[in-house]
Amino acid sequence: MSDAPFPDVPRSDAHDKVRGAVLFGADDTRPDILHAALATATIGKGRIVALDTSAAGAAPGIRLILTHENLGHVKSAGFLMAGGHAFQSLQPMLSPAIAYRGQPIALVVADTLERAVEAAARVQATYSTEPISVTLDAPGAEIIEQANTPLSKHFPEIIAGDADSAFAAAAVRIDARFTTAPQHHNPMELIATVAEWKDGKLIVHESTQNAEGLRHGLVAALGLLPERVEVISPYIGGGFGQKYAMQMQTVLVAVAARRLGQAVKLVVPRAQIFHDCSFRPAIRHRVRLGADRSGNMVAAIHEVDAQTSRHDLFPAHYGAVSSRLYGIKNFRARARFVRNDVQTPGYMRAPFEHAACFALECAVDELAYSLGRDPVALRLANDTATDAISNLPLSSRHVGECLRRGAERFGWGKRSITPQSMRADDGSFIGWGVAIGAYPCLIAPAVARLRVTVEGGVFISIGAHEMGQGIRTALAAAVARKLGVPAANVSAVIGDTCVSPQHMTAGSWGTASAIPAANEAADAMLNALARLSPRGANGRTPAQILRAVGRAFLEVEVRTKAPGQPDEVYGRIAAGHLSFGGPVYPEFVTFSYSAHFAEVHVEASTCRVRIPRVVSVIDCGRVISPRTAASQVRGGVVWGIGAALREVSEVDSRYGGFLNADLAEYMVPVNADIGCIDVEFIDKPDFKFNSAGVKGLGEVSLVGVAPAIANAVYHATGRRVRNLPIRIEHLL
Ligand code: MOS
Repeated sequence: MSDAPFPDVPRSDAHDKVRGAVLFGADDTRPDILHAALATATIGKGRIVALDTSAAGAAPGIRLILTHENLGHVKSAGFLMAGGHAFQSLQPMLSPAIAYRGQPIALVVADTLERAVEAAARVQATYSTEPISVTLDAPGAEIIEQANTPLSKHFPEIIAGDADSAFAAAAVRIDARFTTAPQHHNPMELIATVAEWKDGKLIVHESTQNAEGLRHGLVAALGLLPERVEVISPYIGGGFGQKYAMQMQTVLVAVAARRLGQAVKLVVPRAQIFHDCSFRPAIRHRVRLGADRSGNMVAAIHEVDAQTSRHDLFPAHYGAVSSRLYGIKNFRARARFVRNDVQTPGYMRAPFEHAACFALECAVDELAYSLGRDPVALRLANDTATDAISNLPLSSRHVGECLRRGAERFGWGKRSITPQSMRADDGSFIGWGVAIGAYPCLIAPAVARLRVTVEGGVFISIGAHEMGQGIRTALAAAVARKLGVPAANVSAVIGDTCVSPQHMTAGSWGTASAIPAANEAADAMLNALARLSPRGANGRTPAQILRAVGRAFLEVEVRTKAPGQPDEVYGRIAAGHLSFGGPVYPEFVTFSYSAHFAEVHVEASTCRVRIPRVVSVIDCGRVISPRTAASQVRGGVVWGIGAALREVSEVDSRYGGFLNADLAEYMVPVNADIGCIDVEFIDKPDFKFNSAGVKGLGEVSLVGVAPAIANAVYHATGRRVRNLPIRIEHLL
């Protein structure tokens, strides 16, 4: 039974969500809450020489103005990727130094939101300024080899064989440069904090993918005991990686709430989120790809320059995925950091994978045309069952099946190979493009507590965050199947540091981490129930067994971790540290895969690009919740369309910051931009990877969409556009 596919059931929180019954982080409307607003730096770099808050303080209803002069004893919580808890090491308002445009300089608290916003606008700063460098090629940008930094321990450059010699000797060679644009995540729900102190305890309501990290970030920043801090984040209105670590406003709101003895709420406006939260860095790539005449790829070299801030090194691990798309025996990656005067970039959905696969998969298309080979056939010919980097077996890899099924669904066989050879009835050029994607399969340690009650309730508490992906639905489906109860009876208690360690949810590891733990908890529960009742379950539900033995409830707890991880990881998750394992495990390597087929129509005179249809076939192991999984993939494809044709955060190279810092000017695809998105899953469980057979889905669904579209644009127009997003002016 546990091997059978899961049925398509509605998402468990759908009804509550459409009724508005679900409470997100800042949905606290009690009348006595105080409202905060930030004043931010209007220079790109320098120092505050004088700060005049008298006009702001004289405004009506103002309760507190925090600045670097009166913040008191606060420390930086440290950059998460350097062992800390925050999205960057620079905590604003600890000094008069300004590192980037938009850095907060004051937090104003008032009795109404309008008063706080107005007073924040009256904060007057005088600055001394310094020259700025905010783009990859700007003077003053500092370049560092990742291999020469402490990051190389966790993000070693991927090297196998002798890529340079093999490339030099290859019969067919591609050498191409690509750029991917800086972007912002723009989840619908803004970043926000509600902080209050109750009986000496700090309680923070904030939508975060990392409640435990936020909790320990506050512990570090404010010098508190961990048991004095609780973080609650039951629902997130979109995270996409931007909510992966402690934000800059959280500690400021907590200080204000403590000083005022009242709950304080801050909702960071979108324009400020563009300037003081993480973003996808600007990246340029050089890809060299060599093949023999038969189309066997023999060498690849992937070099990347990735933007980071002056104060932190945000990792650049692009080669880790471009090396894994095919079985290329000679591979070399090299990443360099470009330090700019910006806030620290961060993880944005498929952070390394989207960009890396765009570069490599466009190069593979160029190789196919150089060889006169069909792009699907060329990819199938370079499939592998072994990880070429570690020489370990892949625990599962069905990307060939994704390509074959996708080609069938799409009707790929009817494609003519020559660019500009297919026309629509309205005269538009039709382009058909393909690309594959891969994403590492990771597992985070989890502690799951399962309780059944005599009333028939089933409660699973576990480290997990619901950010729209449907983890509650998946948890309910898994536990219900094991216990033989209706999924509607199962409640998941997640995103609360009081119930279980809340390890960060990111990296598409949520389901592969939570579902095996939930399954094991359910197995432990069945064993415990059997011990309670010597004649066994006998077809009875857990509640019936409890009634028969006169028990109100029964509870079990299990812990799970990634293959090969030591027991110390349980201490790390309790301390709010990043503790995931993979994708290279002691005995195998695990990735999820996607194959995307895109049709573009390029209008002949205006070169406007439309995408009437995309076919996506995904290998993510066992699908636990078919409906929310398909929804994830459609969302990923929309993201890919955005990345290919729309999204770029326009940098203001004169003054720093971003010019299009709102949803009117930061272009995301709208409904009219989206045609048919046809989704299929391979749905083959990978039981080598974990007991639930789940791999990971959220991010791989985006990986490969942008190159499929770029390759389709080439097929339609004969133009190779190697810079994202592709715009009309590139095609005219
Ligand atoms: Mo994701 S970018 O790993 O939240």
